[in-house]
Amino acid sequence: MYCMNSVASISNTVAKHHLEVRGSNFLSGQIKISGAKNSALVLMAATLLTEEALFLKNIPSLTDINVMSELLSSIGVRIERKSNEISLTARDLLQSELPYKLVHALRASFVCAGPLLARIGEVSIPLPGGCRIGNRPIEEHIRGLEALGASVSIEKGVVKAKLPKNKKKLKGAHIKFNCQSVGATETILMAATLAEGRTVLENSAQEPEIQDLANMLNSMGAQIRGAGTKEIIIEGVEKLNGCNHTVIPDRIEAGTFLIAAAITRSSISLTPVIPEHLEAVFKKLRECGCLINTMGDSVKITPNEITAVDVTTSPYPGFPTDLQAPFMALMTTAKGTSKITETVFEKRMQHVSELNRMGSSIKLLGNTALITGVPQLTGTSLSAGDLRASAAMVLASLSAKGVSKIIGLDYLDRGYERMEDKLKKVGADISREKITISANKNSKEGFKPLTPQSIQQEVA
Ligand code: EPZ
Repeated sequence: MYCMNSVASISNTVAKHHLEVRGSNFLSGQIKISGAKNSALVLMAATLLTEEALFLKNIPSLTDINVMSELLSSIGVRIERKSNEISLTARDLLQSELPYKLVHALRASFVCAGPLLARIGEVSIPLPGGCRIGNRPIEEHIRGLEALGASVSIEKGVVKAKLPKNKKKLKGAHIKFNCQSVGATETILMAATLAEGRTVLENSAQEPEIQDLANMLNSMGAQIRGAGTKEIIIEGVEKLNGCNHTVIPDRIEAGTFLIAAAITRSSISLTPVIPEHLEAVFKKLRECGCLINTMGDSVKITPNEITAVDVTTSPYPGFPTDLQAPFMALMTTAKGTSKITETVFEKRMQHVSELNRMGSSIKLLGNTALITGVPQLTGTSLSAGDLRASAAMVLASLSAKGVSKIIGLDYLDRGYERMEDKLKKVGADISREKITISANKNSKEGFKPLTPQSIQQEVA
């Protein structure tokens, strides 16, 4: 069933939105980059480690942030938001059970297991389950919590972790992850800050969002070294204080807009960015024919003729899996044939069929796509199946001939703050249109549920 972003009374009409893109416009000017979603979410979860208030600045306005706020409030965290600032106080935690509905809506919420267990000695959190891009198991999170001395059980789809009876705190340990997992590194890093003694995390993920988390935890009084490398060392402390922290800029949003410039053969600049966070992306954009100039916390891209390059995704500092779909959209009109291989998530190629509906020529062989560039795509109705696939649809539509109509904005709004406004500001012809859909009632079956197809028919 397709989730709805604004629901009129389900009598017989439903209001939805789609994006309408009239392609082939050149872009020019500067785009402001928002705070990083994948950092803000875990920084908010870290509030569970202290009784004192956390003040976070540069928080993006995204539906995922709203869900994390709702989840934290549901267990007693007091939250105040004012534009892109948020204060969180977890003094009076009411419970250690996290509600299924919210955990299911936001996989990232599983990282709350670490700080809650470390702070109050127990946590009960539903298994987040897989999603459209992969099975996304969490055994590395559980292995880490068990290594810190917790007893963990899974009953009826709920993970229950607690300290052994006679223990007041988790105990530091040497943990080697079987895979470089961003979420597992974050969960165990947070739990270890309040554990007894030293914890060493080997084969940790090295993403900038983990560095941002460690920087904030250290300003709360934690003792963390090596974040951003494969080995992180944490000396447990008695308690953590509150702090003020500004979220780093979103490197994935920045990468998406750099590709928007390349795909429309336009020169634009972005600010603020942290250039080193984008090295792998700059490398591929330069390889395929773009000039990239960085000046302090700004970057300017000037594309020339775009030629095909091969890309393989991998954990940071490799090419980010979150930019695989947007980069594939670029390769659909590049000169020559490119190969894109996805190694991080096993089901992250759903955008291929939609891009082929626009006239691109992509063959899929397992987790590798072979893309033969075509002169231009043609606008059509598109349905996005996940967050980054939805961004790829927008980018492809910007360069296409004619009009595209994109549904699935629930996904887009999870990770991109007012994307169409930012693109409009630099000259894109794009708008968010309301569509009112009558859920057709026929005599025999009553209301027929809405599906991407029925919405597609309405949009077409
Ligand atoms: C984070 O997800 C990001 N989400 C993802 O961004 C991003 O794609 C991913 O890292 C990789 O960079 C947030 O930060 C909220 P992982 P996470 O654990 O932590 C396997 C977006 O578009 N694995 O690093 O869930 C897993 O199945 C989102 O913004 C295990 O096998 O990713 C995957 O194949 C999508 N066992 C790989 O590791 C485990 O216990 C990487 O997953 C944990 C993970």
